[in-house]
Amino acid sequence: MFSDSRDDILTAGGIPLLGITPAIFKHRHTIHDYFASFCDQFDKMTGTGVGIGIPRAILTTDPRNVDHILRLKFENYIKGPIVDDAAGDLLGHGIFNADGEVWRYQRKTASHIFNIKNFRDNFTTVSLRNLKSMSTDVIDVAAQTKLPLDLHSAIHKYTLDSFLEFSFGISLEDMTDEDKAKFTTSFDACQRNVIQRILNPAYRVTESLEGWLMPWKTSMKQHLDIVDKFSFGVVEQRRLELANGGEYTDLLSRFMGTKNHKDQPLCDKELRDVVLNFVGAGRDTTAQSICWTLYELFLNPGVKYKLLAEIKETITDEMETDAAEMYEAVKRMKYANAVFREALRLHPPVPFNAKVALQDDVWPDGTQIKKNDYIVLTLFGQGRSQDLWGEDAKEFKPERWFTKEGTLRSESPSKWNIFNAGPRTCIGQVLATTVALVTISSLLRRYDFKLAPDQEITYQVAMTLPMKNGMKVYVKQRK
Ligand code: HEM
Repeated sequence: MFSDSRDDILTAGGIPLLGITPAIFKHRHTIHDYFASFCDQFDKMTGTGVGIGIPRAILTTDPRNVDHILRLKFENYIKGPIVDDAAGDLLGHGIFNADGEVWRYQRKTASHIFNIKNFRDNFTTVSLRNLKSMSTDVIDVAAQTKLPLDLHSAIHKYTLDSFLEFSFGISLEDMTDEDKAKFTTSFDACQRNVIQRILNPAYRVTESLEGWLMPWKTSMKQHLDIVDKFSFGVVEQRRLELANGGEYTDLLSRFMGTKNHKDQPLCDKELRDVVLNFVGAGRDTTAQSICWTLYELFLNPGVKYKLLAEIKETITDEMETDAAEMYEAVKRMKYANAVFREALRLHPPVPFNAKVALQDDVWPDGTQIKKNDYIVLTLFGQGRSQDLWGEDAKEFKPERWFTKEGTLRSESPSKWNIFNAGPRTCIGQVLATTVALVTISSLLRRYDFKLAPDQEITYQVAMTLPMKNGMKVYVKQRK
């Protein structure tokens, strides 16, 4: 329960005996800001804290350490038992949760599907089609009725539809909106719960107490049953279609045709894990990257008008139905790419990453790491760090992404760690960036959005960075 003192590392004091447990409890709904302030307040990039029932965690934003952990000493830092314990019943042994051989075969299998031609020809086509449906069925209606629209919810539905179609061959007609909404609600509840479990070492007791005290509330078990029913259903449907002579080349078919780490075909449970890991990876992160970028544009009209000028110059009506042209166009849009990078710096869709050390180690900044130490990389804290980004770190300034010569500046993945670094670098970076830029450009071309007043836009603590209360907007068609 108690951990050795580590005088060599800057330590957040907390309360005698209880350590940082009360602080973690107090900040459980704003934990990313707490992590970000942790290093800022001491003017150091590495620190530690320990609490009752919480193992020692060493937090760092120092890019030299990040590069060391994620790339140079990759084999020494694994996901470990805490993440597995908290996320195991949702993600199983899928790519996000797995280490070693179980991770390796999934990475190899998925890599085949994530190539440029596949994005350009298939995914951009699917996205453009679903974008059109969202526009006519949802946004045009909001423009006509003049009622506020929850753009956060509409965009999550659109990315879910696109990923279901691209990855698992499920088209809009295959599932009712009600089924999708049920799945989404339960999947989101499970994701939020993963983080609350990591922060609350007594979660088994509190979750069962909740069942007793609030029997009307949907329990985690019930949410998991809904998520399981959906994902096993996707696998079952595909097995039926294959038995009837169907032919597929999507992500699910790749995993069905591969062998696992024991050289055996994947069973239904392993395929269920594939479905859920990829829905989590693709739908949420991409939707949130679009929403936070739009939010920053709504708050910064000067940036929005500059981007609109670039959109007008680059995108034509014909491109909205030509995936290959659209793909090439958004790649050329320098300002749009800078806006996107800047929005992700402030709002990383994966806000933190946790690892555990297998062996003692020494980090480039001199921090002594002991076997079984937990490591927290706060991407949220890193993006807002004045040490790394200067005094204006918390301001939204896409201009910081340009060199003096006007070319787009690239940043090392250990400092702008949005898509991870090293062997576990995000497999969907190009896909997500393309979809986000296509979506943002098409929406801004067609509509003029205004944030509805009297709403608090803030994040929800979960595995990704959703908006807690959504984002309500008023919409007008652009002339
Ligand atoms: C803006 C959108 C996205 C962001 C910010 C993002 C970020 C990340 C990050 C930080 C990781 C490392 C997570 C960890 O190790 O715990 C990761 C891994 C991963 N991402 Fe993404 N991602 C995005 C979109 C996507 C998309 C669209 C896909 C594809 C469906 C995808 C697929 C994956 C996969 C499969 C991994 C696991 C890689 C591995 O462990 O080898 N991501 N992503």
